[in-house]
Amino acid sequence: MKVIPSGSVLGASVEGLDLSRPLSSAEDQEVVAALGKYGVLRFPGQKLEAAQLKRFAAGFGELEVNVASGPYQEPGHPEVMILSNIVENGRPLGIADAGQDWHTDMSYSRTIAFANVLYGIKIPRRDGQPLGNTEFCSMHAAYEGLSNEMKKKLDGMTVLHDFGKFWDMMRREKGSKRPPLTEAQKKAKPPVSHPIFLTHPITGRKVLYANPGYSIRINELPQKESDETLEFLFAHQTRPEYRYASRWSEGDVLMWEDFGTIHNAVADYGPDEHRLIKRCQVMATRFIPPEERA
Ligand code: SIN
Repeated sequence: MKVIPSGSVLGASVEGLDLSRPLSSAEDQEVVAALGKYGVLRFPGQKLEAAQLKRFAAGFGELEVNVASGPYQEPGHPEVMILSNIVENGRPLGIADAGQDWHTDMSYSRTIAFANVLYGIKIPRRDGQPLGNTEFCSMHAAYEGLSNEMKKKLDGMTVLHDFGKFWDMMRREKGSKRPPLTEAQKKAKPPVSHPIFLTHPITGRKVLYANPGYSIRINELPQKESDETLEFLFAHQTRPEYRYASRWSEGDVLMWEDFGTIHNAVADYGPDEHRLIKRCQVMATRFIPPEERA
C-alpha cells in the first residue's frame, strides 16, 4: 500500500489496496495510522458491492444505522445509506442533500463517529470537471490556531449537539424537501453534550470538537456568551488555511475520521447532474470502552 499525501492541510491517496477483500491486521493498522496523519483518505479505482463496502467499514468499528436513513437504505444492508439526487419512476433513490453544509457526522450521538466511508458510483461533471466535491477542515489545525487565552478559557467546557439543528436548517434555509423529523426520530437522538476539546485517539493531540451543523450551546457559558463564542468558533474553524477539497471520481472510496475533521458536501450540481454515493458511518467503538458507550 502506497500513501500519497495531497500536500494540503489534510488528505492523501492510498494506492495498492483492494477494498473488496478483507484487510490484514497490518493493513488495518496502516490505514488507521494514515487516517490520523492525513484525516481524509481516497482509495481510487475500487469495485465494491454494498456488502463489501459494509465489511470494509465494519473493520473499523460498529456501524450506525442512520436515524434518517429509513427510505434510503441499501436493500438488505440498513447500515449502507444511499446519497443521491437520482429519481427513478418518481421515487428518490437516496437522500438528495445529505451533508450540504459544514458539520461532523454523529456529533449528536452519545457514541460519536470515528469515520465515514463513502463509495462514489456516479459523479456529476461539467466541462470535464467533477462537481460535488467533499470539503474538509482540519480540527487539529483549528485547535492549534486558537489563542492561548481562548484555549484556557474553554478548556474543560462542553458543547451541546442537536441532530435537529442541521435538519431544520436544511428545510428552512436551503429549500430541502426532507420531511420534518418525526417524534420517534427526535426521541432516538436527543441533544447530547461532548467536551469542546477532545484528545484525538490516534494522534494524541487536542482537537476542537464543535461544528456549525449540530453544535447549539456551550453549556458552561451564559446564553449570549455561548452564542457569540460559537459564532466565533464556526468562523475560525472554517478558515481557508484549514481547508481541503476532495474531488471525486467514480470508483473512489473516500474515508475520513470525524474526531479531527469537519466536512461539507458541495452542492454545485443540478437535479439533472446525477450523483450516487453509498455511505457507511463507523462509530468510535474502537476507541471508547463499552462501559462509556450509550
Ligand atoms: C456526508 O456528509 O456524509 C456526505 C458527504 C458527501 O456526500 O460528499
